[in-house]
Amino acid sequence: MQPGASMALARAYSMLGGLVWLVACGPQPAEEARFDPGKHLRLAEAVDLDPDPHVTSVKLRAAPASIEILPGITTEVLAYSNSLPGPLIRAKRGDRVHIEFENGLSIPTTVHWHGMRVPNDMDGVPHHGPLLVQPGNGFIYDYIALDAGLYWYHPHHYSLETIGAGLYGPLLVDDPDDPPELGDEVVLVLSDISLDENGALYHHPNDRDTVAAGRDGNVVLVNGRERPRLEALSGRRQRWRIVNSARSRYFRLSLPGHTFLQIGSDGGRMEYPMEVAEPLIVPGERLDLLVEPRGEPGTALELRALPVARGSSLPQSELVVLLDVDFVGVGSSPPLPDLKRSLVPIDARGAATVEIGLTMGETNGVVEMGINGIPYQSSTPLHARVGETQVLRVKSESAFSHPFHLHGFAFQELDAARVPVHPIQLKDTIEVPPLGIKELAVTYDDRPGTWMFHCHILDHAEAGMMGELVVSP
Ligand code: C2O
Ligand code: CU
Repeated sequence: MQPGASMALARAYSMLGGLVWLVACGPQPAEEARFDPGKHLRLAEAVDLDPDPHVTSVKLRAAPASIEILPGITTEVLAYSNSLPGPLIRAKRGDRVHIEFENGLSIPTTVHWHGMRVPNDMDGVPHHGPLLVQPGNGFIYDYIALDAGLYWYHPHHYSLETIGAGLYGPLLVDDPDDPPELGDEVVLVLSDISLDENGALYHHPNDRDTVAAGRDGNVVLVNGRERPRLEALSGRRQRWRIVNSARSRYFRLSLPGHTFLQIGSDGGRMEYPMEVAEPLIVPGERLDLLVEPRGEPGTALELRALPVARGSSLPQSELVVLLDVDFVGVGSSPPLPDLKRSLVPIDARGAATVEIGLTMGETNGVVEMGINGIPYQSSTPLHARVGETQVLRVKSESAFSHPFHLHGFAFQELDAARVPVHPIQLKDTIEVPPLGIKELAVTYDDRPGTWMFHCHILDHAEAGMMGELVVSP
């Protein structure tokens, strides 16, 4: 059957009212069995060059590229392998990931695998050793995908400029044990970009207010497109795997008349699912959401990003429509399987507390940010040992919000009694609200080295809100 025909048929069904449900509960038509909600917002996919099913081997090249972002206009950007976002890299939990990276930029760069528990020398931070990849040079990243989940990659050198110019991409590690009935999967990379009236990259002034607030792009993108369409069959469940790759923008998601079932976050599935009405996703963070869109075929629903303020002294952002959910027919979903994941709560009794104050100051009109009052450039590292558990007490010392990110290790958020918050989530990026405190328990597994932590509002990181943690054997 032609797609058009099935749509017409679905519309005809819907006019029959109650009959729809009888039809929907019967055997699934072939069209529905392979329903693809994401055909209008497809990501480029990296080609796996290794026939071994347990090895993902891809080539990745960072270089200038001409990309059509606004319809009919080409924008000169920086991109991975000629696409914005960079190609989706897929592996399964336990697979070996091998990336032959080439730097086609005119500046040195690195690739950081945000959230992945990689060995220290694969983490793509330029501050130690030979990890900075010079123009024209390459680097081979090679590691095991230890945990299922949605991750992402981006440069860790000139991050503010290069992520802003288009260098970021998703990395999805599938869990072979995920039940197939979860829903039709779509990966959604949320970001924004700053374009001038000619569609060229706009360079924000480096003034005090821009740095303090962080720079939001004026064009909001989902998988590199402005307000794309996502298809849906009414009543048929979808699984949205979402990453926020923006430099500073927060997204508070809302699908009018619907709630989401959150089943996972940064480090894969969480202890048990949780219903959320308007989930917040801060820069660097990931969400794994189930949603059962319902609507009349032929109509659409807006997925909105609601206004948010990144600080009690900052104005709210404007409401943005991220995408339109287009109902092209009617479907149904099998009942949800049990989605518990056994996650061992970190025992934080007796753990050392490490104070991490996220500080902002100003000298002669220049914003200076730091950790405990000290900017990254003049900081001394924090220390930990392999096998040790620490409580990171992360505090926003100002009226600003900060998405705190730790490299290399997943943490669990603690409640006031210093017990992990349920459902337990494995996090690497977390919102610290204005003047708020988050206590995070982390156990350092056997991957010694110097690891970074920082605010993922890239203006803040650049202005000094970044530090190092040395994990010794
Ligand atoms: Cu997403 Cu230090 O980075
Ligand atoms: Cu910040």
